[in-house]
Amino acid sequence: MIALVTGASSGIGKDMAKILSNMGYDLILVARRKERLEELKSKLNTNVEIICADLSKKEECISLYELVKDKDINILINNAGFGVYGPFHKTDLNTELQLIKTNICAVHILTKLFLKDFRNKNKGYILNVSSMAGIMPGGPLMATYYASKAYVLNLTRGIYQELKHENSNVYIGALCPGPVNTEFNKVSHAHFNVKSLSSMEVARCGIKGMLQRNPVIVPGKNSKLISKIVKFIPNNVLLNATFKLQEKKQI
Ligand SMILES: NC(=O)c1ccc[n+]([C@@H]2O[C@H](COP(=O)([O-])OP(=O)(O)OC[C@H]3O[C@@H](n4cnc5c(N)ncnc54)[C@H](OP(=O)(O)O)[C@@H]3O)[C@@H](O)[C@H]2O)c1
Repeated sequence: MIALVTGASSGIGKDMAKILSNMGYDLILVARRKERLEELKSKLNTNVEIICADLSKKEECISLYELVKDKDINILINNAGFGVYGPFHKTDLNTELQLIKTNICAVHILTKLFLKDFRNKNKGYILNVSSMAGIMPGGPLMATYYASKAYVLNLTRGIYQELKHENSNVYIGALCPGPVNTEFNKVSHAHFNVKSLSSMEVARCGIKGMLQRNPVIVPGKNSKLISKIVKFIPNNVLLNATFKLQEKKQI
C-alpha cells in the first residue's frame, strides 16, 4: 500500500503522512523543503520516499508523475497550497500567479494523470484539499485564494459524479477545512482571529472521510454547520460577513 502526499513538510499534509504511516502505508512525500521531509521520514516506521518538487511548475508536476507512475500507488493526496492576504488591488501579481499554479494547476495536472491510471486499474483514492473558502461565494481580502479553492471543490465534485455514473471503484473527494493551526497564516501574512482546529484533527477527519468515500469532507462541528446553512443565506450577506472576518486577520 502506497500513498503520495503533496505538501507533506508541514501542517495538514505532515499529519496525514503520520496517520497513513501508522496505518501501514509506505509513503511518497512531496514538498520543496527537503530537510523538513527528511526529518519527518526519520520519525516514520514505514518506507518513505522523498521527492522535492516545486508544484507551481508544470514540468515538475509531470516529472513527479513520471517518477512514480510505475509504483502501485493507492492514494493521492493533493494537499500542497497557500494563501495570499490583502485587498486585490494591493496583492502581488506574481505571488498570486504562483498561488494559481500551485493551488489550481498542480491539483488539476496530478488529478488528471493519476485518475487515468486509477481508472485503468479500477481502484485508488484521490483526496483534494480544498477549504471552507471553496464553499463560500467569494473571499474579500483573500479573493484569489477563495477562488482557487472553489475551483478545487468544483473540479472534484464534477469528477466524483463522472466516476459515480460509470460505477467506478475509484474514489475522489474534497477536504474542506475551516481555520487550521499550521504555517498557513505565516505564509499568507495574516493571523487567525477565530478558533482553529489542530492539523492532526483535520488530517484524521480527512483520511477517515476519504476511506468512507465521502465526496465532501468538512472537519469540525462549527464548519459542518456553516457548510450546510450557507446554501440558504444570500450571497451579499455571506460576502459582507466574510469581509468582516477577513478584516480582522490583518497583522
Ligand atoms: N490552515 C488552514 O487554515 C487551512 C484551511 C483550509 C484549507 N487549507 C489548505 O490545506 C492545505 C495545507 O495547508 P496547511 O494549512 O497545512 O499549510 P502549511 O503548514 O503552510 O503547509 C503547506 C504545505 O504546502 C507545501 N507547498 C506550498 N507550496 C508548494 C509548492 N509550490 N510546491 C510544493 N509544495 C508546496 C509546503 O511545503 P514547502 O514549503 O516545503 O514546499 C507545505 O508542506 C493547503 O492546500 C491549504 O490551502 C488550510
